[in-house]
Amino acid sequence: MIIAANLKTNLTRAQTLEYLKNLESCLNENSITQEVMVFPSPTSLNAHDGKIIIGTQNAYGTSSGAFTGEIGSMHLDEFGIKTILIGHSERRHILGETQEEIVNKFNFYKNLGFKIVYCVGEPLEVREAGFEYMMEYISKQYEGIDSNYESLIIAYEPVWAIGTGLTPTSEDIALLHKELKKKLPAPLLYGGSVKVNNAKEVLSIDAVDGILVGGAALNVEDFCTMCEIA
Ligand code: G3P
Repeated sequence: MIIAANLKTNLTRAQTLEYLKNLESCLNENSITQEVMVFPSPTSLNAHDGKIIIGTQNAYGTSSGAFTGEIGSMHLDEFGIKTILIGHSERRHILGETQEEIVNKFNFYKNLGFKIVYCVGEPLEVREAGFEYMMEYISKQYEGIDSNYESLIIAYEPVWAIGTGLTPTSEDIALLHKELKKKLPAPLLYGGSVKVNNAKEVLSIDAVDGILVGGAALNVEDFCTMCEIA
């Protein structure tokens, strides 16, 4: 199982250091052997050298250059970061990343051998328009990426479930994941309002290979408990 925490624009560098220290001891105390990833804010990227995999929530598809406000792969190299989140709904819908930009970024980091956690997921109106339409919508979100890339992990995160406390039913997650797995051979995570009290149910669904947790991962004990549940 892969258990990942997306800390988004939360926790300062000092808080992240503390978080990772506590998480590492909790994982060790409980002899947790799952693959655990944390995606902290960019200012915390070099904050850890333990067994937790630290990934970047974003980076530009270039090594360096005139891209004000971005970080490039040379900055990630400096911190030994080899894992990246690409296509998250907040970057697609709030920051306006297009599919073309996302694919370029994917190709750039694939060529560097990064582990890529690639996110897809539909807004509520798309889900309400029916299963086939929803699958079609999601397929456009992975159009252009090499789905056979060996270091690819897919995260299915329905937009309407992110940070809302709402989740699809287990049957809906199972169905969707089964369909996605036919097209995408990569490990498949579920994300969207996963918490301590529903982690067991979500993780026991067939075709769920792990979880990507936002809000509930900000509490280190809760996140560690989810790792234990896995
Ligand atoms: O990437 C994780 C995410 O978007 C889910 O957030 O707060 O619903 O767990 P949350």
